[in-house]
Amino acid sequence: MVRDKNTDGDGAAHVCESALHTEAGILSCIDRARRAFSMATSRADRSAIGQFLTPAPIARFMASLFETNVPVARILDPGAGSGSLFAALIEQLISKPSRPECIEVVAYEIDQNIVPHLEKTIELCRQLCAETGVAFQGIVRCEDFISAAVGQLHDNLFAAAQDSFTHVILNPPYKKINGETQTRRILNSAGIETSNLYAAFVWLAACLTRPGGEIVAITPRSFCNGPYFRRFRKALLGLVNLRHIHTFESRKQAFADDSVLQENVIFHGIRNEDRRGTVRISVSIGLGFRDMQVREVPFQEVVVPDDGDAFIHLIERDDGRQVMERMSRFGTTLAELDLEVSTGRVVDFRAREFLRKDAEPGAAPLIYPCHFEDGFVHWPLKGAKKPNAIACSDQTEDLLVPAGYYVLTKRFTAKEERRRIVSVIYDPTRIDASFVGFENHLNYFHSRGRGLPPDLARGLAVFLNSSLLDRYFRLFSGHTQVNATDLRKVRYPSREQMLRLGCEMKTTLPDQGRIDAAVERAHSENG
Ligand SMILES: C[S@@+](CC[C@H](N)C(=O)[O-])C[C@H]1O[C@@H](n2cnc3c(N)ncnc32)[C@H](O)[C@@H]1O
Repeated sequence: MVRDKNTDGDGAAHVCESALHTEAGILSCIDRARRAFSMATSRADRSAIGQFLTPAPIARFMASLFETNVPVARILDPGAGSGSLFAALIEQLISKPSRPECIEVVAYEIDQNIVPHLEKTIELCRQLCAETGVAFQGIVRCEDFISAAVGQLHDNLFAAAQDSFTHVILNPPYKKINGETQTRRILNSAGIETSNLYAAFVWLAACLTRPGGEIVAITPRSFCNGPYFRRFRKALLGLVNLRHIHTFESRKQAFADDSVLQENVIFHGIRNEDRRGTVRISVSIGLGFRDMQVREVPFQEVVVPDDGDAFIHLIERDDGRQVMERMSRFGTTLAELDLEVSTGRVVDFRAREFLRKDAEPGAAPLIYPCHFEDGFVHWPLKGAKKPNAIACSDQTEDLLVPAGYYVLTKRFTAKEERRRIVSVIYDPTRIDASFVGFENHLNYFHSRGRGLPPDLARGLAVFLNSSLLDRYFRLFSGHTQVNATDLRKVRYPSREQMLRLGCEMKTTLPDQGRIDAAVERAHSENG
């Protein structure tokens, strides 16, 4: 259904009329409605449509990032929910001495349950603008933003850019785009390839931003690195000049009311502007943004110029810069070490018929993260929930590798785990087997599909378990997943340094202090 509501009069805003005249403004009233809406609806229903509403302090902060003054402000809020984002922006715009003469808002929203709240917000904004002599037009479009935006982009190839927006503000729905859906087909028709709705929203919203116009979005941090968002990152960085990126110290903060545990970022960019050279990076601990730390860093430190993957590094503090500097002293690629890293080949639910609970003749060890202990693989694990072995046969041949020294890392770490990168050695002298299977929840370092020289394996395990690498990794990875692609991008100590590091590893992993001191020595020998 498309219901354009051009509000110009008898709206239902009486509920909050008093808010117009209080210092807290209309946003505090909209925020009360947001909380009431969240209480009255089920979290599961909201989650199904990716609906996590922005609390007022975050909406205000996002609005504060817009920089330019224009006489006619055209605001787009795709996936507007109850409208707190554009309301915060309007409050901000009209509080300036050089306020716009005219404000127009286009808000897209598909959830019929929240649309009455959205319409109330539009009405409040209309009243607020009327009081300050600003002409206002509010349009609620109850339709799918993806189809509408793609349609508009196709039309705009021939039309003037008058339909584009000077201000785009969004908190898009977070949801996977699964399989061959209509959404995916529509996106493909516009050359937009991404697996999450939030990236599709931001990509389209950036396309609808006028040259010189501004976009502010709050999204998961996951797009900053990793292979899945590569195309999106490159498209976004091509469309807008990043000016500010804000992160939250704790994953619980941004959407605490909805118990959303996820790392979020807020970014601000200007469409097609010449690169100014620096990006502000800020981090806040609470919702108040009072304790915010801000740094201005060269754009090349955020996106390294020759990085074909265009990872976005978020160096939030000075020690982040130190970590980057210290890591930059290690310049050896895995290829130079004659090493590769791959994801474990055994996807257990696909190989169910070959899995064996315990070691048995004719079966190879099958290694899971539960076999990690103190720097080495401890196998078999009696009473484990996971199988210990996989039958050797023609069908499983390709899933196995010949016995040898391999260095393994977990692909997923629990959030409470101290380190993101947890690494151990598969030592063939401890396990009597000719072949071994590595399960898909692991990455394994190998040399052309075979094991590594033992000293190199020890050195690599020490380096991978170091605090320096862990801190470096956290600079660009917003999630607890460690992909083989991420490990391929890391620069490692030279072979000689690795061999020296390997001397630290005897029969167990040395304590953290010793590991870090050894990596520090290797690093200073390089500097
Ligand atoms: C994460 S919520 C954010 C809402 C609001 N912008 C805020 O910040 O409070 C995303 C909103 O997008 C809406 N939505 C989901 N899919 C949509 C679509 N295809 N088109 C338009 N809106 C959509 C949801 O109903 C939800 O209200």
